This record gives sequence, structure tokens and C-alpha cells, in this order.
Amino acid sequence: MRHLPSRTTRRRVVGSLATALLCAAGLAAPASAAAAPAPPASSAATRDTAGSSSADPGVRLPDGLALTPPMGFNNWNSTHCRAEFDEAMVKGIADIFVEKGLKDAGYQYVNLDDCWALPARDANGKLVPDPKRFPNGIKAVADYVHAKGLKLGIYTSAGTKTCNPAGFPGALGHERSDAQQFAEWGVDYLKYDNCNNQGVDAKQRYITMRDALKAASESVGRPIVYSICEWGENKPWEWAADVGHLWRTTGDISDSWGSMVSIMKQNLPLAKYAGPGRWNDPDMLEVGNGGMSDTEYRTHFSMWSIMAAPLLIGSDLRKATPETYEILGNKEVIAVDQDPLGKQGEVLSTQNGRWVVAKEMKDGSRAVALFNETGTAQSIATTAKAVGLPAADGYTLRDLWQHKSYNTAGAISATVPAHGTVLLRVSADDKWAKNPPAVELGADGAALVEAGKRTTLTSKVTDLGRTAAKNVSVALTGPSGWRLKATSPTTAKSLRTGQSLTTSWSVTAPAGTAPGKYDLTLKSTYRSPQGARAESVLPLTADVVVAPPAGSSALGDLPWITATNGWGPVERNTSNGENVGGDGNPITIGGTVYAKGLGVHADSAVEYYTGGTCEKVTAQVGVDDEKLLKGTVVFEIWADGKKVASTGVLTNAMPAQELSADVTGARLVRLVVTDGGDGNDSDHADWGDATLSC
Ligand code: GLA
Repeated sequence: MRHLPSRTTRRRVVGSLATALLCAAGLAAPASAAAAPAPPASSAATRDTAGSSSADPGVRLPDGLALTPPMGFNNWNSTHCRAEFDEAMVKGIADIFVEKGLKDAGYQYVNLDDCWALPARDANGKLVPDPKRFPNGIKAVADYVHAKGLKLGIYTSAGTKTCNPAGFPGALGHERSDAQQFAEWGVDYLKYDNCNNQGVDAKQRYITMRDALKAASESVGRPIVYSICEWGENKPWEWAADVGHLWRTTGDISDSWGSMVSIMKQNLPLAKYAGPGRWNDPDMLEVGNGGMSDTEYRTHFSMWSIMAAPLLIGSDLRKATPETYEILGNKEVIAVDQDPLGKQGEVLSTQNGRWVVAKEMKDGSRAVALFNETGTAQSIATTAKAVGLPAADGYTLRDLWQHKSYNTAGAISATVPAHGTVLLRVSADDKWAKNPPAVELGADGAALVEAGKRTTLTSKVTDLGRTAAKNVSVALTGPSGWRLKATSPTTAKSLRTGQSLTTSWSVTAPAGTAPGKYDLTLKSTYRSPQGARAESVLPLTADVVVAPPAGSSALGDLPWITATNGWGPVERNTSNGENVGGDGNPITIGGTVYAKGLGVHADSAVEYYTGGTCEKVTAQVGVDDEKLLKGTVVFEIWADGKKVASTGVLTNAMPAQELSADVTGARLVRLVVTDGGDGNDSDHADWGDATLSC
């Protein structure tokens, strides 16, 4: 989020002047509204007052709208301002909602984001839809969408202009007129952004529009859902429950794993503020936009659902794959999001990237997400008791991605693939016995493989059920040519509750296999006592790696296993150019140029396979001169999960520092750069002359 600080700065500079002008023009919100108390969080009273709040003119919400998180579409994540955002797209999405069953699944709002208007208002101060994009105006689009039984949303900013640099008109100072125009067009939903806000108090700006929307919507008899988009800057969860139906809690999401996970982590702790008619909004979905794997998109969709987040599809459904439809259309997952109790799931535990999040459901069951943030398969476990279920003989455990039910004696546990989420719905019902027992299929080893060299893998099938797992067998498959051989039994006649079948495997990739990631699959099949067949599958990744050569090697030239970076890709032998690979400059720290090294951007981690044969890492580290005086970072070197060297906070004013670490015997070496504790603005960090000695 590098654009947010500059917005804030701009706002501060012009803020006081603009406030004075607006106040002089009589645009301040009525004091009674500004002082309206928020309704008590998650009390029955809050829900009961829905629809009757007009008795108190100071409290406008809840009003019976958005009793479950809004679901629909918004074009921003797929098109931004590009020309493909137009009437044809919006109508196309509405058609698809109906044709592909998404409307049946609950998707309702078709929302326009920024760039729908012309930059200038007309002579009467009215907004003008861009005639290239919307030749028939917005009302025609609303009519089309309404005829399909769907709803239309629109966007503007609580500022003088919207966020796009082209400078489309914002509604600050035009709230009544703009809200009236939206209402007359037939708009059902407003996303109200925060750009160019002139430093006017956020609460005041958002309340003014709330009141304008109420008046406008009453004048046409059409309710309007009000989405506050001030990026969580003024903690709207603390004051917006009677202002809007939902509020953004974070900056903008982008289509990457890092962005999605960081937003999730900011939104999770806000659970207690969410409820019917007042939702935390961790931003729109990226599912289907191409920057994450389908496993990662399933995690995104699972976690947004367990957080009772608005589900606004952000990909162009006209081009979506069957996998994207399968994710977005998963009704069992949507039911978690849309549960009428309206609780946001809470983090029960988080440890080394293994997360358990549980959500109380109206029928007394619990939705449980076992989320694996790490890059390797992990066993993640909780219990029926820990998620809040009453004591019972057995429980039904429904896997919401596999669409299968199992019984469990109380253990809720799964080995979850890298970046995956197992999403379950667990209930203390009396029908548990009709389902086969749940098993956990786990694995350890063979993550790093040198071609032609034997490694070992251990698999483990554990019965979690109240009933026994019968005729258990396990198999391991992989790419053709790989030798995958069990060196201990692969079958068991019967496993009782808590018992395991443990199998050792020898894994050999053929000599000459190119370095990279290869898929292995563990599969176990078994029968319930009644004879029903069940199975469990665990996808695994083996990384074929090459041991580094003896002697000194430039790390800028060696292959790495993984590389994560705050902006753009990690660069070899140049600085970090932020956007695409190869856009950096010569690595330069304090006027000295380094021909070799790595150019990264905090937060960053680059991991190398060292195979136990190396001794030392050395580098000249610092913030690259290309950011002038900006940027503060810390450099760290890790060996097999242990920090073995680090700098203090380095600034751009400092010359390069020598950093060296003893990595004797380590199989993995990781070069880490953190943001120095002040956010990652301008954190262009260089590992000048980084060298590995083996
Ligand atoms: C801001 C919002 C985004 C999007 C853009 C449009 O960045 O947070 O969701 O609406 O503006 O310009």
C-alpha cells in the first residue's frame, strides 16, 4: 500500500482550509447524528430494533438491511478503470448470475466501482455517466439488472474527487443531490470511498451521506445498502454500526497470496464488532483473477466466509474457469458466510502458521477452518469441545469442499496442504453413526529431493472416528519415472479410535530431473463398519533441489527454492524495480555499486538449499540509493529455521554494512528483510555481493 500515505499527506495539507470552507457552506453533519451512540455489539436488542429505529432520529441503523453479509459482484478487482468496464460487462454479469445459478446461490448485487462517470458535473451540478461506457445511462442498467431480480450498486468518494487520478467527481458537499440522483436511477447499494476527503472528519462525512441516502431512498421507496470504504483508517468498527451496513477494515486487496493473508490477519481480530446489518469488510474477492492457485483461492473464499465477510466477486465471470465457478458457487461454504446468527468466526489458536478459526452457527453447529499459512503440509487440530460443542458420544463432521460427512469421537484434525484450508461444519447430532469414521492422512519428509538420491517419507493414517476404520490401505503416487516404494506395511485390517497405520516410503527422483516443484499424492482408502467405502487424499509437493557447488558462489546467480517480496519480484544482480522482473537498477548503497547480489523489497525472504555442505554467507547490505533518503529495513540470515545473524535498523543515510553468518551443516539458508517496524514504504533492500561458501 504505497499510495495510501501520499493520499494521507495530501489530505493533511489541504484539510483545515477545506474544513473551514465546508463549515462556512453549512455542510457539517447535524450534531445529533454525529453524536449518535453505536448500538451495543452483538446484543439481542440490536437485532430486535431492526426496522423500528426511526423512532430515534439520531439512530438510523440497523434498519433491517444487510441482515446477512452482502453478496454480489464488483468490477474493480478485474478491470480497474480499463475500457472493458462498461454496460456490456455489467449486463453480462447479471445474465451469468441468473444462467449459472449464482443468483440462486445468493449473489444479488451487481456493483459499479470507480470510473463510471465523466470527470465534470453538468451545468446543474449533476453527475454524468460516461457515455462511452454507459451510453444508455445508469437507470437503463439498473432497469436491466432489476428485471433479472438482481440489484445495482454504485460508487463514489466521500471527498471532492474519487480515487482515480483522472479525477471523477466525489460527493463531498454534494451528498443530498448525488444520493437523490442514485436513488432516482434505482441504485440499491452505495460504496462510499475515502479519497480526496479534504481532511474533514470521517465520521461526519459518512454520517452526512447516511442521512442523505436515507432521505433519498425514502423519497423513491427503495432501500439502499451503505458500504463505508475508509480503509479502516479511523477504526470504523468502533463507530459505524449505526452509520453503514458494512465498513472496509483494511487497505486495498490485490491478487496475491501475501496481500490476501495480510488482509485476513487484520480483519480476524475484529470479530466482536460484526453482526446482522453491521459487517467488517476485508475487501472484495480476488478468486479467479489468476494471481493465486485454486488451493489459495479456496482458502480466500473459506476464510472470507468464516469471517462473515461480504462476498463480492471480483473476477470477470465472462472469462471464468470451471474451477472459479466451483469455488464461488459452493453453497455449503456460502451458508457459513450467510448464517443468520451473523457471527464472525474467531481465532481459537494460531501457531507457526497453523490456524484454527471457529464460527458459531444458528443451528448450534460450528464452522471450523483449519488454515495452513505455511509452504508445506501441516497437521492442524482442535476438538469438538474447544470449538464450543456440547459433550456427545459422536459428532458429524462435514467437509464443505469435499461435500462428504464423517463421524468423529471429538477430534477435529487434518493434515492440510500448503496454503490450503480444510473447512468443516461440525455438529453434535444423533446421526453421526451413519457416516464413516473421519481419518487424518498425514505425511512427513521428502519435501526436498536431490535427483538420483534416495529420501524417505513417512505416511500416517489415524482413525478420528467413534467407529473403527476397516480395510485401511495407503498408496503414494508421483511423476512417471519416480521410484516410490513402501518399506513397511501399507494396509491394516482395522484401526480403532486414535489408532494409526504408519508407513515408510523411499522416494527417488530420476537422475537428471530438472529442479522445481513436483506433485506427489498420498491416498488412503478404508471402509466403515457397515462397509461403506471412504477415502482421504493428501496432495504433497516435492522440491527437486541441487546442492550448491563447492567453493564460493554468488547468491545472485544460484537457484533459490522460494522467494517472497513486498513489491514485485526479487531481482538477481540489480535493485528491486517494484513491478516486473528485470526492471531494477545497478545495486547501489552509499554510492558504491555492486555487480552481484539480490535486490529485494521488504518484507522479503529468499530461501536456498544448502544441503548441509556449506559454511558461510557474507554480504554488503543496505537500503538502495534509488530511494534517496527513504526506506528503513533490518537484514537477517536464518539457517534451518534459526536466526544466525542480523543487522539493526538500517536507513538510507547509512553506508553498506558487512553481514556474515556461520551456516555450517544447514540444509536451508534464508535471507530475510523486514520493514524495520515502520511499514514497508520505500524499503528497497540490497544484498550486495551476497556470497555462499561451501
Ligand atoms: C480505492 C478503494 C478501492 C477502489 C478504488 C477505485 O482504492 O479502496 O476499492 O474502489 O479506490 O479508485
